[in-house]
Amino acid sequence: MSVSTPERKRVRHPLPPARWPTREEVARSRWFSPITLGTRLVAAERTWVPAMVPWRATDDGFVTEDVLAWYARFAEGEPGVLVVEATGIRDIPSGPLLRIGDDRFLPGLARLVDTVREKSHGRTRLFIQIIDFLTVRRRPEPEKYFARYLPITDALRVQLALWLDDKRWREAPEDEVRRFLREADRVTLETVLTDRELEALDYGYRERVWDLHLPWIRELPRVLPALFAEAARRAQAAGFDGVELHYAHAYTMASFLSRLNTRTDGYGASLDGRVRLPLEVLRAVRARVGPDYVVGIRYLGDEVVEGGSRVEDAVWFGVRFAEAGVDYLSVSKGGRFEDAKQPKVGEAVYPYTGESGSECMPTVFSDARGPFGRNVCLAAAIRRALRDAGHATPVVTSGGITTFEQAEAILERGEADCVAAARQSLADPDWFRKIRLGLGHLVRRCEFTNYCEGLDQRHKQVTCKLWDRKLDPTDPSVTLASDGRRRLLPPPWEPPAER
Ligand SMILES: Cc1cc2nc3c(=O)[nH]c(=O)nc-3n(C[C@H](O)[C@H](O)[C@H](O)COP(=O)(O)O)c2cc1C
Ligand code: SF4
Repeated sequence: MSVSTPERKRVRHPLPPARWPTREEVARSRWFSPITLGTRLVAAERTWVPAMVPWRATDDGFVTEDVLAWYARFAEGEPGVLVVEATGIRDIPSGPLLRIGDDRFLPGLARLVDTVREKSHGRTRLFIQIIDFLTVRRRPEPEKYFARYLPITDALRVQLALWLDDKRWREAPEDEVRRFLREADRVTLETVLTDRELEALDYGYRERVWDLHLPWIRELPRVLPALFAEAARRAQAAGFDGVELHYAHAYTMASFLSRLNTRTDGYGASLDGRVRLPLEVLRAVRARVGPDYVVGIRYLGDEVVEGGSRVEDAVWFGVRFAEAGVDYLSVSKGGRFEDAKQPKVGEAVYPYTGESGSECMPTVFSDARGPFGRNVCLAAAIRRALRDAGHATPVVTSGGITTFEQAEAILERGEADCVAAARQSLADPDWFRKIRLGLGHLVRRCEFTNYCEGLDQRHKQVTCKLWDRKLDPTDPSVTLASDGRRRLLPPPWEPPAER
């Protein structure tokens, strides 16, 4: 499916030209001016590095030396706010993603906090994004799918009997049904399998929050508030300045907010139903961490999938979150599973492909509007509605921000309160520091062609093509990625000595 318009012919866009400010201009600027988040936490600047998963945790979710080194490198640029990657709230195996679902993760997370404090000289406020996600399996070998995974139901037998015009299939033994399907042609499969069974064959099995026939999905509203609240308590105990509830992209909470959420138990269908669990989670978290701890939400200004939520929904949700006392709203876009590209056999579907994926992390190959600041209008609409409703809740925007002037203009026009940059900060984590020092001309500029995202897609350690091959093999201080070919961290940078 596509929600594209006829103007969506893709062309390569040049990077926006940058006129970098002098030190004095920076000192007077909005982007580099302080902001209060929540009741009393002051961020020294409105510069912001949003969550990015770098695939550096251990397989059982612990902080590693590589995780510390990654965040240390961002901290050296001293952004106003740095948000640690999506971190799982459950204590379940989830590959090399950070976890916060048990107290045994606390010592590692506390070291992460100490590292960022030290490397940023206490200037960077550190939040952690906390996430829940549902099961997504890899696309199976068709042989295995028919031999093992596909449940052979009476409904399937009835479909076979109808399609083959042979009543005998209503009673056919499971083995025979499996054997038949393994050899069946595509038309037969498309006729007898349900949409979800076909999807499990072609893309891999994937749960939905509206799968009420599954007891653990039915139970989500009962279990998630406590899981999020406990994770937030641990974040507070580890010393983070705040938590960010991950209500964006392809994951559980965004799916509750989605217009596609058809749950019939009071947690779906209407706007009130869809926002109910996200509000219950927010309240549970707030009750656990107290009134002064920063609790933010990252959510979608537009899902960019057919039948999904649009900016009108996001505006309405934003006001509800503000009424419920959220301390900031960070607005993202797209990144849903519904329109994701078909994965190869053995790989899992990746939500940053397809139309909604390219809206989430837009590249220079874009339609006439181009990738730069493309999502700002969503943040602006939400912010306007908040202010009209009397809420001063700060709004964070991101998506294709790569120059000082872009960020400054967004703030000047009142479209957002903080301006975040993910890939530009990955390309050059020192860029805020360089700008602050009046050395903007030294910024290594992101090219927005998504090499880093390709690594993320394959769950490989994320690096940037602008620095990962800048290797001196004789330098013992350089840590290499597990493939032995890329440096894991950007080269160090120090300002040139003043003359
Ligand atoms: C490698 C990578 C990992 C990401 N991981 C997360 C994540 O854990 N949570 C999240 O909300 N967004 C994640 N994002 C999305 C970014 O936070 C950001 O919204 C997106 O890249 C667009 O901003 P940009 O144009 O400044 O890069 C990730 C992006 C990249 C490139
Ligand atoms: S790999 Fe490409 S898109 Fe990613 S940060 Fe580097 S230059 Fe930007």
